[in-house]
Amino acid sequence: MKFGYFDDANREYVITTPRTPLPWINYLGCNEFFSLISNTCGGYSFYKDAKLLRLTRYRYNDMPLDCNGKYFYIKEGDTLWNPGWKPTQTELDSYECRHGIGYSKFSGSKNGLKADILSFVPLKDTCEISRLTLTNESGADKTFSVFSYVEWCLWNADDDMKNFQRNFSTGEVEVVGSTIYHKTEYRERRNHYAIYSVNAPITAFDTSRDAFIGAYHSPANPEAVLAGKLTGSIASGWSPVAAHQLDVTLKAGESKDFIFVLGYVENPEDEKWESHQVINKTRAIALLAKYDTDAKVDAAFAELKEYWNGLLSKYTVESSNDKVNRMVNIWNQYQCMVTFNMSRSASYYESGIGRGMGFRDSCQDLLGFVHLIPDRARERIIDIASTQFQDGSAYHQYQPLTKKGNSDIGSGFNDDPLWLIAGTSAYIRETGDMTILDEMVPFDNDESVAQPLMEHLKRSFDYIVNHKGPHKLPLIGRADWNDCLNLNCHSTQPGESFQTFGPSEGPVAESVFIGGMFVKYGLEYAELCDLQGKDQEAARARAEVEEMRKVLLSDAGWDGDWFVRAYDSYGNKVGGKECEEGQIYIEPQGFCVLAGVGVETGQAQKALDSVKERLDTQYGIMILQPAYTVYHEELGEVSSYPPGYKENAGIFCHNNPWVSIAETVIGRGDRAFEVYRKTCPAYTEEISEIHRTEPYIYCQMVAGRDAKFHGEGKNSWLTGTAAWTFVNISQYILGVYPTHQGLSVDPCVPSDFGDFKVTRKFREGTYHISIRKADGIQKGVKELVVDGQKVDGHIIPYVKGKTEYQVEVVMG
Ligand code: BGC
Repeated sequence: MKFGYFDDANREYVITTPRTPLPWINYLGCNEFFSLISNTCGGYSFYKDAKLLRLTRYRYNDMPLDCNGKYFYIKEGDTLWNPGWKPTQTELDSYECRHGIGYSKFSGSKNGLKADILSFVPLKDTCEISRLTLTNESGADKTFSVFSYVEWCLWNADDDMKNFQRNFSTGEVEVVGSTIYHKTEYRERRNHYAIYSVNAPITAFDTSRDAFIGAYHSPANPEAVLAGKLTGSIASGWSPVAAHQLDVTLKAGESKDFIFVLGYVENPEDEKWESHQVINKTRAIALLAKYDTDAKVDAAFAELKEYWNGLLSKYTVESSNDKVNRMVNIWNQYQCMVTFNMSRSASYYESGIGRGMGFRDSCQDLLGFVHLIPDRARERIIDIASTQFQDGSAYHQYQPLTKKGNSDIGSGFNDDPLWLIAGTSAYIRETGDMTILDEMVPFDNDESVAQPLMEHLKRSFDYIVNHKGPHKLPLIGRADWNDCLNLNCHSTQPGESFQTFGPSEGPVAESVFIGGMFVKYGLEYAELCDLQGKDQEAARARAEVEEMRKVLLSDAGWDGDWFVRAYDSYGNKVGGKECEEGQIYIEPQGFCVLAGVGVETGQAQKALDSVKERLDTQYGIMILQPAYTVYHEELGEVSSYPPGYKENAGIFCHNNPWVSIAETVIGRGDRAFEVYRKTCPAYTEEISEIHRTEPYIYCQMVAGRDAKFHGEGKNSWLTGTAAWTFVNISQYILGVYPTHQGLSVDPCVPSDFGDFKVTRKFREGTYHISIRKADGIQKGVKELVVDGQKVDGHIIPYVKGKTEYQVEVVMG
């Protein structure tokens, strides 16, 4: 069952009922100012950091779902309604929400009055624009009132929910004309305030929540709105809000626009005040002047669209499969950009007050957006590497505003160092920019111990070399990619954090998965050494990788039909036949094989066959089987979840593409695509009533076979699934992969995929690649012709400065 449809021409998902199974959201903002916006106008806004500089307040996990947003109320006679249905939930005559690329549109109508909202964050300013268009579609004149409403957050979203003894006394506002200024804490250490304004004279306003809503009412029935007249309240402490009233008359057929701007304004320390305790509004006024007419808003919207057109033209496919085209050309890349901006901080499942940027998360996200914004990827790599410790280990997270490592969680996640190699290698393969390796980068943000980035990568590599356990496998530390496999934690008390309790490392617990990563990224490190002419170091790295490969393929890493997952702190196998529960895990099967481990010995194929036999379901591949039914103190959080959820046998979408990539490595295009298809939103759209999360983007987890709600998605948007799936479909299945020597074209597609074309911008060039294949062929390049010249192999040689490449590929 569907709750909307894809409009590919406009790059929009059109939601046709407000009653979606869960709030279906979108993100506005590309640079510094961001908003989350649901299909019923819920959500919130922040500047740079969802925790520290939150503009508007959101109520988590409240009922009805999705409480608080940027609401407009329309009151005509006794009828009170919202164009996005919430919060009044008055039945609408028509409703539509179009989530687009960086904007959302809403359209609601009631009794012949139509309200359209266009919401977006302009590229160059720190504000969100909501243009409300009211059209009288009835045959008679109409007089009605419009009310806007947002609730301010007192900046630090965490403190805002906890520190009431202070916060109920600090709220302050000013109102001038149609602009409401939220200036809490500006009198002391802040030099920023927020504004909410409309480009028309207002009839009235409110800034006190009690006055606007009333202590015993709710946003569904605000007292002042019901009375038809806002009260002019000036908040003093308690909960400041911003509400405007506009009294409107429209002739039959007439239409009027109102432009609302929610903005963030900063003043230099010495320009904070206009007069005693009166804030300097110059910058706010200048900002508002930029968006006070339709023409200016249209221009800003066109500029935003142009920006996205540019980004999304970097990789496009034309195939006979609409769903693949749609995901590759639009939604998958869009989600990659959202993960670039948000990491795992702010979604409807991530509160924005917990985790900042993840070290491993951000490095992996980069794999999905590096081709879109290489300059910002470069900056990101330097930021991430700056939080590394001198021994090569790394803070697991850092705060986006300060860019400092987060000492609450600390380090000890032993896969982290290798992801830095993954991200840097991807960046250099994409751009050819070797200078990044010479950039001086601090350790733990201490400039006095800065070293070139290449030295950071060496320390990443050596961290694994120097931290091996009894089987010569990498020690796992607090966890590897799977944050919930906590083999040194041994927590027995509720409330102890599985990720930080116990020692950060034990001498016994090992990870086969990190071994697979070491092969993959150790070789990428060796390639970088080659390019820098460090032959000895390259040879040393390759020798270490070969050692690891041997261990992985020996009884230490191989369980007979699949790769072992790990060894616990007693030296017992995790993910082996001898285990009663958790006999097979997905991670090492995917990662070892995608790293090429076992391809020659046949173990790769066997491991993937075991995945299909033991872990596959109609909704995707589960992370492990059999699920843990009891809590295992020696395994940690993984066994804390009820069977079928999250890391305990859920379908963790992030590692499904690893298996799909692994299948392409051994040439099985049909199976690779089957794995791709099962978690692909364009396919699961059809079962939205089961899947429930947004059908245009990936979610982190789909409940596994053991769960009561098998097939139900959770934790949408902020997941490494976006990046890995894009890597999978664009670089492995469609097969256009950046190498240091040039673009490689080596697709691995389903037998019946047909011919297809890829247009790829790579460094200074645009590559028009057309791929032909006979039915039945899944992999292999028989012929590669570049601008009429036959080329051996499957790499299009990179020619510096050349801008156009016509490429013909025949598979076979
Ligand atoms: C975390 C990742 C982790 C994954 C698996 C996610 O919530 O952000 O860092 O790899 O869970 O445990």
